[in-house]
Amino acid sequence: MDTVTGKVAVVTGAGAGIGRAVAIRLARAGCAVGLIDLDPAGLAQTRDLVEAIDGHAACAIADVSLREDVDAGLQALATSLGPVDILVNNAGILNTCGFLEITDAQWRRTFAINLDGAFFCCQAVLGSMVARGSGCVINMASWTGKQGVAQHAAYGATKAALINLTQSLAAEFGPQGIRVHAVCPGIIVDTEMRAAAEERNRAQGLPAMETRVQAVPLRRGGMPSEVAELVAFLASDAAGYMTGQAINVTGGLWMN
Ligand SMILES: NC(=O)c1ccc[n+]([C@@H]2O[C@H](COP(=O)([O-])OP(=O)(O)OC[C@H]3O[C@@H](n4cnc5c(N)ncnc54)[C@H](O)[C@@H]3O)[C@@H](O)[C@H]2O)c1
Repeated sequence: MDTVTGKVAVVTGAGAGIGRAVAIRLARAGCAVGLIDLDPAGLAQTRDLVEAIDGHAACAIADVSLREDVDAGLQALATSLGPVDILVNNAGILNTCGFLEITDAQWRRTFAINLDGAFFCCQAVLGSMVARGSGCVINMASWTGKQGVAQHAAYGATKAALINLTQSLAAEFGPQGIRVHAVCPGIIVDTEMRAAAEERNRAQGLPAMETRVQAVPLRRGGMPSEVAELVAFLASDAAGYMTGQAINVTGGLWMN
């Protein structure tokens, strides 16, 4: 039996891409999954996919950048599924953009979703995890949080902050039996985010995917399911002596 069987996992940004793959993988491992997203249609599709493998899912429409949305959404999920054992802060946006062109609104929106969202979700669930003496938080960061990349100033800054937040929380809550990790994907294909980034790159005359994967030792983009495998491992007891790590899943694009 998988060590996460019977646990309650909440995944933000579960309406598409990596979040959807994580929700399905955790459901396959036996978790009841709480799905949070802005997009009701995407949420319903993920719920249907979870139910198609006989998983149990509940949905909450919420904007993770708003504390009241997060609190209400997590409360509703805890009421229908039970207290949260595993939180995956996955919701995020990417705005590839030259630094001089970033508007205040874009900068703030990127921080509000990618960083404040994780802050609000963590504050909402950690109290109950502390009371129960166990729990696991996984923050979806990026290799660009470890290495600055042109056209990624706002995004990379949020992901670097998320990695540092991960380490701070791992240090603060480790004594209470709570493990906190970051996952750092590289070029993950087949997600809305990647499709939108490709389009922007084309418009800005930046290199296409085929060119960029030449810098990846494994010479291909990753699949959302490959990120989900890492999340499932980190959430399980098999990773019971690991906390505060920021693990790359980049095909070797980033090795530090
Ligand atoms: N795709 C990649 O190559 C890649 C690489 C590194 C890191 N990541 C990270 O992985 C995570 C998921 O990326 P993806 O490629 O699956 O993206 P995606 O755009 O395909 O999906 C993101 C999901 O988050 C939801 N979302 C966006 N803003 C939200 C908000 N304010 N509140 C709630 N939900 C919101 C969207 O509706 C969507 O369903 C992000 O944090 C991203 O930064 C992705």
